[in-house]
Amino acid sequence: MADPQQVLGARVRDALGAAFGADYASADPLIRPSSFADFQSNAALPLAKRLGKTPRDVATEMVGHLDVDDICDTPAVTGPGFVNFTLREDWIAGATSALLEDPRLGTPLPDAPRTVIVEYSSPNIAKEMHVGHLRTTIVGDAIARVTEFAGHHVIRDNHVGDWGTQFGMLIEYLFDVGEDAPQAQLLRTDPNAFYQSARVRFDSDPEFADRARERVVKLQSGDDPGTQRLWAELMELSRQYLRDIYALLRVTLTDDDIRGESFYNDMLGGVADDLIAKGLAVQSDGALCVFPPGFTGRDGAPLPVIIRKSDGGYNYSTTDLATVRYRVDKVNCDRAIYVVGSEQALHFRMVFAVARQAGWLAGDACFEHAQIGMVQGTDGNRLRTREGDTVKLSALLAEGIERAGAILSQIEGLDAAARDEIAEDVGIGAIKYADLSTARDSAYIFDWDRMISFRGNTGPYLQYATTRIRSIFRKAGIAQTDVRGPVGVAAPAERELALKLLGFGAVIAGVTRSAEPHRLCGYVFEVASLFTAFYEQCPVLKADDEATRNARLALCAATLRVLTAGLGLLGVPVPDRM
Ligand code: ARG
Repeated sequence: MADPQQVLGARVRDALGAAFGADYASADPLIRPSSFADFQSNAALPLAKRLGKTPRDVATEMVGHLDVDDICDTPAVTGPGFVNFTLREDWIAGATSALLEDPRLGTPLPDAPRTVIVEYSSPNIAKEMHVGHLRTTIVGDAIARVTEFAGHHVIRDNHVGDWGTQFGMLIEYLFDVGEDAPQAQLLRTDPNAFYQSARVRFDSDPEFADRARERVVKLQSGDDPGTQRLWAELMELSRQYLRDIYALLRVTLTDDDIRGESFYNDMLGGVADDLIAKGLAVQSDGALCVFPPGFTGRDGAPLPVIIRKSDGGYNYSTTDLATVRYRVDKVNCDRAIYVVGSEQALHFRMVFAVARQAGWLAGDACFEHAQIGMVQGTDGNRLRTREGDTVKLSALLAEGIERAGAILSQIEGLDAAARDEIAEDVGIGAIKYADLSTARDSAYIFDWDRMISFRGNTGPYLQYATTRIRSIFRKAGIAQTDVRGPVGVAAPAERELALKLLGFGAVIAGVTRSAEPHRLCGYVFEVASLFTAFYEQCPVLKADDEATRNARLALCAATLRVLTAGLGLLGVPVPDRM
């Protein structure tokens, strides 16, 4: 165990058990960073009442039983009953040296690994694959990577919109233009444009619109082979588009992760029947609805979850109810994280409420909506092109790469081929990092100048930080992987950096719990900043003696490992040099 918070926590729990009885050994040790020492335990405060003692007395008794000599100096009771810990230099050095050899960088494996569905990206096929889906894709991928690294069994789930009424129009249009026509190829390159031209046709040609409506009926009845084939063709072209976008974005979703709305089609009738049988679904204005308790509109009237519309068609919510049921019954997941725009918050609260009423979401399965805020233009509105159109995802990524290339061209000694390769990493990394470093539920302003900057909490700054450390090894003529401890932490800047590195596991655990990748961004930024301070204050290659030089090289190596692991889990590419 490398993480000092965990190590101290375990010792505090032992001390509480020894001092006050076994019942107290499971109390929360409440270890926090301290401004007067390295860490403090606040455990005594909430226990005082239960024990009928003053917090200070509890703290003092606890300290009497604390066995931490190998980790820190004598702990001090301060204030109302805090216990302060100052870690021993040799312990920090030893733990940091161990980090160098540890593939998990001090991240403990969970006692009981859980099966976690991370649902993300989920664009609507051939409809609006635009910058709005960029964020759910990027943030979701980071959540999936981190949760997996934390030791859980992660199932990636791309809940694409591949069903519903607009597919009549799309299929009919594909049928009219022909599968090999240039328009059809738009599905692979610019699906929005395909949708737009189908839409224009639909709005201007009543005969086509009629055929499109008939096509929906054929599609949903499932017994017209020609329609099914065209639908499958539409999906294949869209999958090709997604594959390209995901590859460029370094997103880990594959074809196998696609489990779209259509997958649940056969289960919708059962959902409706069961809700009727349970007495939850009632007819209202011709539609079949459930009114979960506690949801009312502005006028105080109860809000419905529409299960079946008056025309007999099922709803978006019905599919989501079938999805909940499937995930609980068939996938046996312990947790499902829905990475979806915050504008759908009410939808999910109501769907989960109905699923709970129906008994489908019983037990301790934890279903949560990881809300994603809007991406805004610099004018504060939803991001649009100058002409007011939705921004094409591929154009946006291309622009990022181009801008990164322009900045890199100012760097001397970089040949054109290398520059193009690095530009892709930097451009994509900048976009992803800007997205990830903002709390996922807040909106953020898409601002090229800020995200491609080499200064501040940006992708390029962190990428550059890793290449800077690599260049130290290059100059030293030693491979990073050949560096061995012991790490030295005599100087304050070394000590601070090492302590930060030892917190990696705790950050991973926290991000896994909260599904908030921005915390990991904040952490890697702190690491990079502390490294800069260390590098300014502590000469590495020009250290006074061989031992110091080696110890500092080892600290550089540990830092590089933590930074690349952190950026890797965020899905931000890390070029070897810049
Ligand atoms: N396809 C939907 C959209 O683009 C998002 C799907 C979200 N997931 C879900 N289970 N409803 O708005």
